[in-house]
Amino acid sequence: MNYNIAVVPGDGIGPEVVSETIGVLDKVGEKFGHTFTYQYVLAGGAAIDETGRCLPDETVEICKNSDAVLLGAVGGPKWDSLPGDERPERALLGLRKALGLFANLRPAMVFDELADASPLKPEIIEGGLDIAVVRELTGGIYFGKKGTVASTDLGPAAYDVEQYAEEEVRRIAKVAFDMAMKRNRKVTSVDKANVLESSRLWRRVVAEVAKDYPEVELENFYVDNAAMQLVRNPKQFDVIVTSNIFGDILSDEASQITGSIGMLPSASLAKGNFGMYEPVHGSAPDIAGRDLANPIATILSAAMMLRYTFGLGEEADAVESAVKRFLSEGYRTPDIAAGKASVGTKEAGRLIADMI
Ligand code: IPM
Ligand code: MG
Repeated sequence: MNYNIAVVPGDGIGPEVVSETIGVLDKVGEKFGHTFTYQYVLAGGAAIDETGRCLPDETVEICKNSDAVLLGAVGGPKWDSLPGDERPERALLGLRKALGLFANLRPAMVFDELADASPLKPEIIEGGLDIAVVRELTGGIYFGKKGTVASTDLGPAAYDVEQYAEEEVRRIAKVAFDMAMKRNRKVTSVDKANVLESSRLWRRVVAEVAKDYPEVELENFYVDNAAMQLVRNPKQFDVIVTSNIFGDILSDEASQITGSIGMLPSASLAKGNFGMYEPVHGSAPDIAGRDLANPIATILSAAMMLRYTFGLGEEADAVESAVKRFLSEGYRTPDIAAGKASVGTKEAGRLIADMI
């Protein structure tokens, strides 16, 4: 089979981690008899520098016509002073919306070898941690009506509206319940239904969807409590489903408690099998271009691409096993080396590709 992948290396460490991931994908192709064809496109700061716009139309077109998108990271201090809608981060929001990527999967797991890296006490994460955050990605306050009011009693004001339609909640809830069926059969829906009307609709629709999944336990948490429970007792969670903004916040928290954000992949899925895959970490401009970045999050994102978009479970397993082997043989990149000996980005990529 031939698979067409649109590749957005992006900014900062993006191009370095993407390049190692391509090496791993090529190795998978070689071993399993697939061809991956890459089309490189611009987005974020790199696109601003080259074309003056953070998300050129051509990029959107090529992504739409591809089988899947692989993205490194966007943004950096160089573009920080640009106005809100011209910043590199806008490219991400634009891609999500244009490609209909409404479901964002952000698994937060602790790798046995790296359990020490968690900032939580050992007894709290003992026995491992494996949470799937399912974040709604194309609705809510990120994309609601926004504007400014020239004058109010308290001076000029600005607003952003949180609005969810039933169907938006229903489709993300289904993703979460389907995922729970393949895992530990528990969904925690997170909202602020004690205050927000949109959350009351959210909670009602999630409960309706739950009726189709009698084997899955549904629990509803207010977002403040969820944030607290994540550090108090994270092992109680299996799948967390929540709105765009709550998911933005809680997925960062969930990734931080694993202690190794450089390891965590993500998938943003549309209806059908199409998806965009990217590491959870950002562009890390401070270490860009120095062969210090950890490519594992991007490599594991490619494994998610193999599994979810291409339906290549065995190939995805092979990539994940290679990463596990890399760790169990004692290899570390600087971010997870705790000051001990480490290998660079390129060496890590080469080793993992070799272990496939
Ligand atoms: C994320 C990021 C983005 C978001 C930013 C960069 C727009 O924080 O992917 O979580 O808020 O969604
Ligand atoms: Mg975020």
